[in-house]
Amino acid sequence: MNNRDIEAAWKYHDATKHSFWSIRNNPHFLDWENRPLPFKIYPEIEPIPVPRDLPQTGISAVSAISETVPSARTDSIPDLQDLARILYFSAGITKHRSHPGGDVYFRAAACTGALYEIELYVVCGDLAGLDAGVYHFNPADVSLRLLRKGDFRANLTQAAAMEPAVARAPMALLCTGTYWRNAWKYQARTYRHFGWDNGTLLANMLAVSAASGLPAKIVLGFVDVEVNRLLDLDTRREVSLCVVPVGHTSEGSLPPAREVPALGLETVPLSGREVEYPAMREMHDASSLASEEEVAQWRDKHLVSVSLRLTDAAVALQPLPQEEQPKDTIEQVILRRGSTRTFDKAASITLRQLSTILDSATRGIPADFLQPPGTQLNDLYLIVHSVEGLKPGAYFYLREQNTLELLKQGEFRGEAYRLGLEQQLPADACVNIFFLADLKRILERYGNRGYRAVQLEAGAIGGRMYLATYAQRLGATGLTFFDDEVTNFFSPHAKGKSAIFLLAIGKPLKRVR
Ligand SMILES: Cc1cc2nc3c(=O)[nH]c(=O)nc-3n(C[C@H](O)[C@H](O)[C@H](O)COP(=O)(O)O)c2cc1C
Repeated sequence: MNNRDIEAAWKYHDATKHSFWSIRNNPHFLDWENRPLPFKIYPEIEPIPVPRDLPQTGISAVSAISETVPSARTDSIPDLQDLARILYFSAGITKHRSHPGGDVYFRAAACTGALYEIELYVVCGDLAGLDAGVYHFNPADVSLRLLRKGDFRANLTQAAAMEPAVARAPMALLCTGTYWRNAWKYQARTYRHFGWDNGTLLANMLAVSAASGLPAKIVLGFVDVEVNRLLDLDTRREVSLCVVPVGHTSEGSLPPAREVPALGLETVPLSGREVEYPAMREMHDASSLASEEEVAQWRDKHLVSVSLRLTDAAVALQPLPQEEQPKDTIEQVILRRGSTRTFDKAASITLRQLSTILDSATRGIPADFLQPPGTQLNDLYLIVHSVEGLKPGAYFYLREQNTLELLKQGEFRGEAYRLGLEQQLPADACVNIFFLADLKRILERYGNRGYRAVQLEAGAIGGRMYLATYAQRLGATGLTFFDDEVTNFFSPHAKGKSAIFLLAIGKPLKRVR
């Protein structure tokens, strides 16, 4: 299959839409006996514990998500403590709860169903405290496991078609998605969740890297088979999603690429039995890049911005000035975060609070597919219920102008309940932020890989919004939605766009610690 054959992405997207009828005609019951293990375990490899007692960065969450990445011109070489901080605050266990269905180990970033299908790996040269190698990170025992000994950064750089951030990075973190761990609950829709859940994790990863003074960038352009082989993945079950080079070295050339023999390492099965959903495999294959040339060409594709006109109905955002922004550090905010389960319907938030969230989360994700920097694939539409200083109604966010355009005024709590899959959370929140994208334009530019990009970008911006919300001691939750009804609600403005992601923000009934 070919990345340019974009019927594949349309087919997957259309087949995995939620609608009133799809939910009723395809009821899915969870088989708790067959619930997948939330961790990847290599029983035969010795763990290498990573430090847990880490110095705080002292950088506030709002600046960690909104300030531009530290300059990559000077050397910034992470050590084992930096790596440990980034791993823990991206994917570490932050809370534990016992439920009738079993224990849940909640992690640093929000994840659909708390199923944690995103795994992290490290590819590094020699770092202070850690020898060069390819490692897997297991949050269960906060340890690395060495999969390959030696410096494999040249292999990664080749696979990424010489992307400069990868070539100059002392280490790279690699994210993969494990189908069954999430598909147990969400079936074929899991491929969308790969992007969302990887994205929220990346929001933390980018913020903690920035707070540690290390540049980091999301690289989505790579030869899939090469990266999968480097990590020795069983690609029927688990596939590489992105590469994140961290740090910068001006040191000359990398040691040459090495042989990458198959390892066939044993891992503990996730469940007694697994169900395969071919639609996801097809979507993944169709969005794979097959050669360095294809990666290089793919990376050259830019999305031309569409300029939007301001209308009379525009309201200027009022983000908090820097001196009034909350000072809690990125680490404190990540530990505090946890999706709101019940919003206080009688509460409101202020326009300043909402403005700070929108402004700080949309200053541009550093990613190879977002050129020039600051480009954004997703458009943001809002349903405002109770924001002091804003009339209740539906709005469009004009990012360049930092304004909200009123599309229609009114109380839309009932509509929000319905659009958010008939859940109470979007009805009781103060505001719902819907991400919609012009998939036609994106797929024409980036091929099927654009589908991965748009989902992942939404998760990363949504993840930043989570952080900006909890920094202000408010609450948020990701939500799923009835696809076409979302587009219809925001039309004619949103005509032709596709619903990608949804985040509800408000005041939790339980106070945020
Ligand atoms: C993209 C996304 C979609 C979500 N959708 C829903 C949803 O539809 N309903 C819901 O109650 N929670 C939803 N959640 C919240 C997750 O259930 C929650 O993140 C997970 O249980 C982990 O808990 P935590 O966020 O408190 O760490 C969603 C989260 C994300 C990131």
